[in-house]
Amino acid sequence: MEERQPYGSVTAKTLRDLAELVGPRNVSGDPEKLAAYSHDEVPSASLPEATLAQALVFPESTEHVSLVMAYADRHRIPVTPRGAGTGLSGGAVPACGGILLSFEKMNRILELDRENLTVTVEPGVVTAEINRAAAKHRLLYAGDPCSGDASFIGGNVAENAGGNKVIKYGATGAQVLGLEAVLADGSVTWFGGKRRKDVTGYDFVHLLAGSEGTLAVITKIILRLLPLPKHTTDLLAPFGSVEEALGFVPRIVIEAGLLPASVELLDRRAVEVAMRYLNAKLPEPDAAAHLLIQLEGNDPEVLADEVEKVGDLCLAHGARQVYVADNRTARDKLWKARKAVPEAIVAFHSRYAKEDVVVPTGSVPTLMVALEEVDRAWGVEHIAYGHVGDGNMHVTLLPPEGPEGPEKLREARHDLYRRVAALGGTLSGEHGIGLKRRDDTPLFLDEAQLALIRRVKAAFDPKGILNPRKIVPGN
Ligand code: MLT
Ligand code: ZN
Repeated sequence: MEERQPYGSVTAKTLRDLAELVGPRNVSGDPEKLAAYSHDEVPSASLPEATLAQALVFPESTEHVSLVMAYADRHRIPVTPRGAGTGLSGGAVPACGGILLSFEKMNRILELDRENLTVTVEPGVVTAEINRAAAKHRLLYAGDPCSGDASFIGGNVAENAGGNKVIKYGATGAQVLGLEAVLADGSVTWFGGKRRKDVTGYDFVHLLAGSEGTLAVITKIILRLLPLPKHTTDLLAPFGSVEEALGFVPRIVIEAGLLPASVELLDRRAVEVAMRYLNAKLPEPDAAAHLLIQLEGNDPEVLADEVEKVGDLCLAHGARQVYVADNRTARDKLWKARKAVPEAIVAFHSRYAKEDVVVPTGSVPTLMVALEEVDRAWGVEHIAYGHVGDGNMHVTLLPPEGPEGPEKLREARHDLYRRVAALGGTLSGEHGIGLKRRDDTPLFLDEAQLALIRRVKAAFDPKGILNPRKIVPGN
């Protein structure tokens, strides 16, 4: 990276210049608005180097983004792209002030192409709108993050968001075929397109997906669509121990020969906190673990057979009962409980470390044993829930009471990270690194990789203006 000059300052003139470029209605320097847009779902006080944006820009087009980037490049002003603010890593929280690009005005579904099975969207479209638009044509957009009713697709792509269907369909990046992007100097280019295959040069599409706005600003997205499965059934299986529940998960593929759309785990504390928050009841709330398994198919009789097969297997592997939800109301009730867990934790606990670790699926049982050891070593407690089918556990550590609580929590997190690394796992499966986990990446990436990340960043963004200070120390 070229020698870093200090960033240019944002002044009243900058706001006037920006207003001239993109129109006054698309620029704000209002301190209340700046504060409202300068955070995501992570409390900013817990983030290293969190700052407030100094200018807000609401682009209406690729051309607007291009003009703003060219201006920022000339004046060396940092630019942070932001989606709906549902992020869980501080990825869209400015670390050096500057301009914040917010995409709510670029919110059009531009084209749904049934011949090519693609949908082309702007980054400010709410994710669930894409699911609905595809479903109207009996097609599936397979991205399904828990925050999908609010999140923007641009943020999903930037963070390579995961969600509940990754085991079958892959994370957001796996759905992306093409990206229009504005580079740091304001030039506009397309990576990928509607084609399903492409080995002409490096795979920039999947370098940008998950790059957290540090390499380019995404302005259009081409997503793949699939046929929409005609029928869906969810099974809820309470188990007497977490080990039994986890031991059962691989049997779905190995013994039943089926690939579910979702396999989610809720341990006892996760069920408890969600029930309390929703003032609702799940069956067998005292069970050590619940598995929520989703199966899909086109033929109702075949699906019913598969549901029975998986249900029988659950019972043979220690499930106390199996509850089958084959209508919308029953299914929604189960998913409401599952999706409420993170909000419920935040509602009832003032201090916690919400993690997003991922290990190879075969190592999840060892991870859970390691977690018990972490609890004992540091006096913490844990809540475990999440995407156990793909090895991505949202382990939430709760500190012990007393003044030493925060320090114990910090130690427990690092102990957990060391154990995750030893299992061949990593720091974040879907929430991203952002500011929240930036200083922990060296535990998981060696010097060669850290240096390569910084060189890739410098190649895309030689002046270091795109979402600076994110992902690895020194970026
Ligand atoms: C989830 O799986 O519930 C989401 O990733 C959100 C979260 O854990 O906070
Ligand atoms: Zn998740």
